[in-house]
Order: sequence, then structure tokens, then C-alpha cells
Amino acid sequence: MTATAHVGVTGLAVMGRNLARNLARNGYTVAVHNRTPARTNALVEQFGDEGTFVPADSAKELVASLQRPRRLIIMVQAGDPTDAVIDELAPLLDPGDVLVDGGNAHFTDTRRREAALRARGIHFAGVGISGGEEGALHGPSIMSGGSKEAYQLLSPLLDDIAATAPDGARTVAHLGPDGAGHFVKMVHNGIEYADMQLITEAYHLLRHTAGYEPSQIAEIFRTWNTGRLNSYLIEVTAEVLAHTDPSTGLPFVDIVADRAGQKGTGRWTVQTALDLGTPVSGIAQAVFARSLSSQDTLREAGRTLLGPTRRVLGSQDAARFADQVEQALYAAKVVSYDQGFHQIRTASDTYQWDVDLATVAALWRAGCIIRADFLDRIRDAYTAEPRLTSLLRDPHFAEEIGQAQWAWRAVAATAARDGVPAPGMSAALAHFDTLRTERLPAALIQGQRDYFGAHTYQRTDQDGSFHTDWAGDRTEHRTR
Ligand SMILES: NC(=O)c1ccc[n+]([C@@H]2O[C@H](COP(=O)([O-])OP(=O)(O)OC[C@H]3O[C@@H](n4cnc5c(N)ncnc54)[C@H](OP(=O)(O)O)[C@@H]3O)[C@@H](O)[C@H]2O)c1
Repeated sequence: MTATAHVGVTGLAVMGRNLARNLARNGYTVAVHNRTPARTNALVEQFGDEGTFVPADSAKELVASLQRPRRLIIMVQAGDPTDAVIDELAPLLDPGDVLVDGGNAHFTDTRRREAALRARGIHFAGVGISGGEEGALHGPSIMSGGSKEAYQLLSPLLDDIAATAPDGARTVAHLGPDGAGHFVKMVHNGIEYADMQLITEAYHLLRHTAGYEPSQIAEIFRTWNTGRLNSYLIEVTAEVLAHTDPSTGLPFVDIVADRAGQKGTGRWTVQTALDLGTPVSGIAQAVFARSLSSQDTLREAGRTLLGPTRRVLGSQDAARFADQVEQALYAAKVVSYDQGFHQIRTASDTYQWDVDLATVAALWRAGCIIRADFLDRIRDAYTAEPRLTSLLRDPHFAEEIGQAQWAWRAVAATAARDGVPAPGMSAALAHFDTLRTERLPAALIQGQRDYFGAHTYQRTDQDGSFHTDWAGDRTEHRTR
């Protein structure tokens, strides 16, 4: 077989197929392969006229069809299937070739795979590709990890297929070595969970406290979408809320079972945050809220628990409340993003990735699910101060959130008083207030820990570690 293809794609389910088409539409000759050949044949039959595809029946044929240094993208199920494909391909590759994992791999797997392939002279780039099947076809947001050398070989091609931000920049970048790309993609998905949770809490409050119907809430969201909350997620939420179920004539949202699914990247974000010791309460609340929604037995048992009598606001109060909800949603959203960026910063420092947070914000402005106008502001904040400790310290956000906090507090208080669950908004407010608090009760926790476990404590007025003899005469001893 002659080596004519500029790039190869193996794994031709929704993502791989559309990525291959995107590459072909951009003028690349694309070698295509799938474990089950039917998918390869279907791609060529249905979309063969979109560009030049070179179908391959086997891994050997696929590798033989690629120009050198070879660039080969794996788009298969994450986990063991990805290892199986790498094991099959690696012996066929030569030093200097680039193997890309475009799936949703866990970043620790990517680190392991990168090290193993580097030892054989093969570049392995873990690349987060966001935007679902539409993004893969029309332009995703691309978060690349791996070596700089690998990125040099990939960037012309990735640049061509990425989405374009409103300022004309392509949403693709090299974020750091080994697992950096997949880590940032994972946090992107975690933030997506938090964003969705907050939006649905806003809907729930507008429905149950303000008394609006789904179609009215759709209109409210459409209005919000013209302001600082402008984002893809607000836009699609309005579309879903405005939809009527054709078979019953009821609002669509009322006939959908209220059990939220999840594929796992949100859970990974929280698990990783626990390991790194970074607080991502917004993402955690979102993951737990989805889990709780699916706990049928627990929910059934809890339905008759006592709570406040439902009350609905009058129309003037409802309009004022809607304005407060907009402010609460915005403030809580900023906190959730801040937590996600902090998690990326912590991982970047831990693994020496040197991830530029302004670049991350810029990448998420188009092609991905969390694309939103306010990412421009986040990019600007990190551009002005790359080591910014918290977005809430940025002068612009500090002022905005400082003003929004009164409405945010009112909404959280109303939710608590009326018994409407708003875990995301409330947790974000608690995070904000924790940051503001001069002296935390953590001091008392240290006292408790020293009392029952001799875990020691530090003092505010002296260096070193101390233990108090709680069981004896309560004298204090310096332990270090
Ligand atoms: N779907 C999305 O919206 C989305 C968005 C972003 C990222 N991703 C990630 O992109 C990747 C691809 O996603 P997808 O939804 O297109 O496909 P998928 O359903 O995750 O995986 C199906 C593909 O994996 C292949 N496969 C499974 N086990 C294999 C094995 N042991 N050896 C070789 N091939 C194997 C399948 O081949 P056969 O046809 O032979 O079964 C098929 O091509 C995943 O990592 C996913 O997490 C998906």
C-alpha cells in the first residue's frame, strides 16, 4: 500500500467518524479504520464525496497508508479499549511517529501511556476534544497534551479543524506535557456539570417560588442570554424549556423522568480534586445532585418528610425575584469556574505542566459545551495576572460579585425558607463566604483533633507544632 494519507483515524463511532470528515473537508487525505469494518465502509459510502479517505481493513494497512512521520488519531472508548488499540498499533510504528488519543482518557492513564511510548521513541499526545459529535464535525475545542515536538507535528492539522472564537482565534492549543490536555478536558466537563446544575436550580426556583411556567422561563433565559450570562448552555436550556411534548401537549420538561445520567468525567473531576486537596464544591454538588436524582428508593422514602408550605410570589415580586436569580446564577457560576481553574492550577503545579490559564479560558470560548461570553473576561483576568490566586480577586469580578452577593444571599435564603433545593448556589455562596472569613472554625477542628488524636496544632503567635495534654494537667508541649 502506498503511504498517501496525511493522517489516520481509528475508531469510527460518532466522534471518530466526524473528526475524520472534518479533516477530509479541510483537504487532508485521511486513512480510516475501525475494529468492525462495517463502520469504515459506511463512512466511505455515505461521506466519501466530502474528501479523500483511504479505508483500511487492518491496523497494519492503516499504518502502511500513512505518510511519515505518521500522525494517527485514536477515537475509541476510553479505558481498556484504548490500551488494546495502542498495543496493536505501537509495534507497527517507528520512532518519531505521533499517536494521538482523542478520547476522554483519565489523565493518569495518559501519563502512563505517554511514558511507555516515549521509551520506544513514539510521541503520544493525549488530546481532549470537546463539543460532542457536532463539534467534531464543524470545529471542536482542542486541548492538547504531549510533547512540544508532537504538537509541532499536529498543530497545522488541529488548527484547521478547530472551532473559531468570536475574535477569529482557533480554539486549539498545547497546554502542557503528558496528561495536561486530558486533565483540562476533564475539568471542562466538571465545570459543565456545575454550570448545568446551577441553570437547572435557577429554573426550579423560577418555577416553584416565582410560579412561572416553562415557556415563560424559556423567555426569561432568552433575555438573560443577551447579557453577561450569554452562553450555549443558557441558549439550549431555553430551547428545551420552550419545547412541547407532541404526544401529550405538556411542557417537554414535565414528561421527562427526573433522573439525571452521567458518563463519569464529572465524577473523575471530583475524585481528582479530593486527591489534590482542591475544593470544587460546585462540581461536587452537581455530581451528587445527579446521583441523588437517580436514587429512587431514597427519594420515594423521603417524599413525605415535613417541610414548609409551598408559596408562590405575586407577579411583581416574581419579576424582582427573577432578577435576583439572574445575579445568584452569575455569581455561583463565577465561583464554580474559579474552583475549576484553581484545580487546573494545582495539578499544573503538582505535575509541572505550566498550564497557562488564560489560554484555557480562550480555548473554551467556542466549539465546546461551556462556550460563553464571560470566558473572554476570565481570559483577560489571567492575561493581566497569570498567577491570579482567585478570579474573585480580579478587580472586575470582585466588583461584580460584590454587588451580586445581596441578591445571591436573598435567593439562597429564599430557597432554604421555601424548601427548594439549591445545592449548587448555596455551596458556591458558602465557598465565597469561607474565602471572606478572617478566622475560620478550622481552629476548633484542630483543637478537637489534638484532643482525641494528639494530632498537634500550630499557633498563630509562635512557629512549630504543639500538643496539649488534654487528659492530664493541660500543659502544652512543643512537638517540633
Ligand atoms: N460522544 C461524545 O459526545 C464524546 C465527546 C467527547 C469525547 N468523547 C470521547 O471520544 C471517544 C469516542 O467516543 P464515541 O462516542 O465516538 O465512541 P464510543 O462509543 O466511546 O466507542 C466506540 C468505538 O470504540 C471502538 N472500540 C471499542 N472497544 C474497542 C476495542 N477493544 N478495540 C478496538 N476498538 C474498540 C468501537 O469499535 P467497534 O465499532 O468495532 O465496536 C467504536 O469505534 C471516547 O473516548 C469518548 O469518551 C465522546
